[in-house]
Amino acid sequence: MPAVLLAPEGPAPLVLEPSVEAPAKARRYLTDRFRELGHADDFVGRLVVTELVTNSYKHVGTGHIVVRVLLDVREPLAVIEVWDESSALPLVQDESDDAESGRGLLLMEQLVHDWGVRPLNEEGKITWARCAR
Ligand SMILES: Nc1ncnc2c1ncn2[C@@H]1O[C@H](COP(=O)(O)OP(=O)(O)O)[C@@H](O)[C@H]1O
Ligand SMILES: [Mg+2]
Repeated sequence: MPAVLLAPEGPAPLVLEPSVEAPAKARRYLTDRFRELGHADDFVGRLVVTELVTNSYKHVGTGHIVVRVLLDVREPLAVIEVWDESSALPLVQDESDDAESGRGLLLMEQLVHDWGVRPLNEEGKITWARCAR
């Protein structure tokens, strides 16, 4: 796990095993963090953290998954960060007539202010999304 996620300052991150229970635990954590931060509406945040944690579980599936929920320092936005140990990057798929899956990030993109990926060299990556609060 990268040192940046283990910084002693700030709220404790949520560290998850990549299991089928991970998304539910992440939703509970997000709701608690939003409450601590004074956000009444956690609807979008719960959808976003579910998608990102599910992606780490399904598409990486090894190591830990680490979730943080922070306030943006400059804008009235909440930042949801999900770290996993893989350097492979999320890739928004083209919408297609036939594909059975591959629309999660496309859907998420419609809900958030912006999102992106921070590669951490040998230490995996952080996929983040900022949503209104
Ligand atoms: N955390 C991740 N690590 C590596 N690859 C990812 C990750 N998240 C998403 N991807 C890649 O991006 C693709 C698109 O993700 P998404 O739109 O969520 O569709 P789906 O999860 O249904 O495949 C995935 O199929 C996968 O190849
Ligand atoms: Mg997905």
